[in-house]
Amino acid sequence: MRVYFDYNATTPLSGESADAVMRATRDIFGNASSIHHFGQQAKAVMDDARSAVATLVHAEASEIVFTSGGTESDNFAIRGAAEALESTGRRHLIASAIEHEAVLNTLRALARRGWRTTMLPVDQSGIISPDRLREVIDADTALVSVMHANNEIGTIQPVAALAAIAHEHGALMHTDAVQSAGKIPIDVRTLGVDLLSLSAHKFNGPKGAGVLWIKRGTKMQPTVTGGKHERNRRAGTENIPAIAGLGAAATLAARKMTAEAARVSALRDRLEAGVLRDVSGTVVNGARDPRVPNTTNISFERVEAESLLIALDLDGIAVSTGSACSSGTLEPSHVLKAMGLPSHRTQNSLRFSLGMFSTEAEVDRVLEALPRLVDKIRGLSRKTALA
Ligand SMILES: Cc1ncc(COP(=O)(O)O)c(C=O)c1O
Repeated sequence: MRVYFDYNATTPLSGESADAVMRATRDIFGNASSIHHFGQQAKAVMDDARSAVATLVHAEASEIVFTSGGTESDNFAIRGAAEALESTGRRHLIASAIEHEAVLNTLRALARRGWRTTMLPVDQSGIISPDRLREVIDADTALVSVMHANNEIGTIQPVAALAAIAHEHGALMHTDAVQSAGKIPIDVRTLGVDLLSLSAHKFNGPKGAGVLWIKRGTKMQPTVTGGKHERNRRAGTENIPAIAGLGAAATLAARKMTAEAARVSALRDRLEAGVLRDVSGTVVNGARDPRVPNTTNISFERVEAESLLIALDLDGIAVSTGSACSSGTLEPSHVLKAMGLPSHRTQNSLRFSLGMFSTEAEVDRVLEALPRLVDKIRGLSRKTALA
């Protein structure tokens, strides 16, 4: 039995989403901007998907802009808002230190062009305190960007409280909801944000499809310029099969979310409790609550995470050492570092992320393999140390 516990990196397509992608690929070839029948067929697919995503996040369909995924949505949110606000003289951007690289590197790029940027610290549990935002926000701040749920540890941030502070200072609020959309309820009005990013492949939709939700009336400078697509907000002939798959994924997520969250969190809790019980020297990183239902990040004392990841993979179990973008390098996780964990704990942590196709049998298979593999690695490093 092969086990895939890396849903935060990406998820398998649901049957519903795969069918929608296939149908649109096979049957709908028109350009959604064309006035004739074929164009209108494509436009109808887009309209359905737009409504489905709007329902998922309690937004209006006209506020949904389709993009190529979470990275583009984050870029659009930050660059588009920053450029639109440039003429107001506001030249300050704030993000949390535990954002995804799509946000962090966009801020770094803008900093090289003269924008002042501030990174909000997190506490040991991986939560951003609204007080920290109050300390750094000022009349120059154009935008605050804080993720809804973290991709490595799953903690959920107090976005509504942060958004209220941003607005008190006349700044816009963006949240990267790539790891929460489809997993927990999202209501853009309750969150109080102006911009929200999501990505289909994190909730059983296709890769290369995402959304930036832009609150009605928010001034944005398009970052992809060209034709008048997406109400002049994002140019380019739309990827209809991917958008169809995104719509189907959103519909399924909205329908099954409550039941799935309960099922998946029970599996995650069983895994977490089992690891803490059966493997000595283990500790969960980050607050356990509030946290998305599918994620746990665990440090294994005296075990190099990469070695354990490879041993698990050879045993047929796929997990991750933090964010997918930084795996392949031995860089310690910037998230765990920002939480102030000592360097050995930033180097010996694994992320287990479950989802739609995860089962109890898979959890038990991991619980059978882990103590054995950890013992082996610890035994090997003891021998090396003695040699
Ligand atoms: C929190 C977060 N934001 C953004 C992204 C980027 O999304 P995409 O892969 O759709 O570009 C990811 C993907 O890992 C993510 O976890």
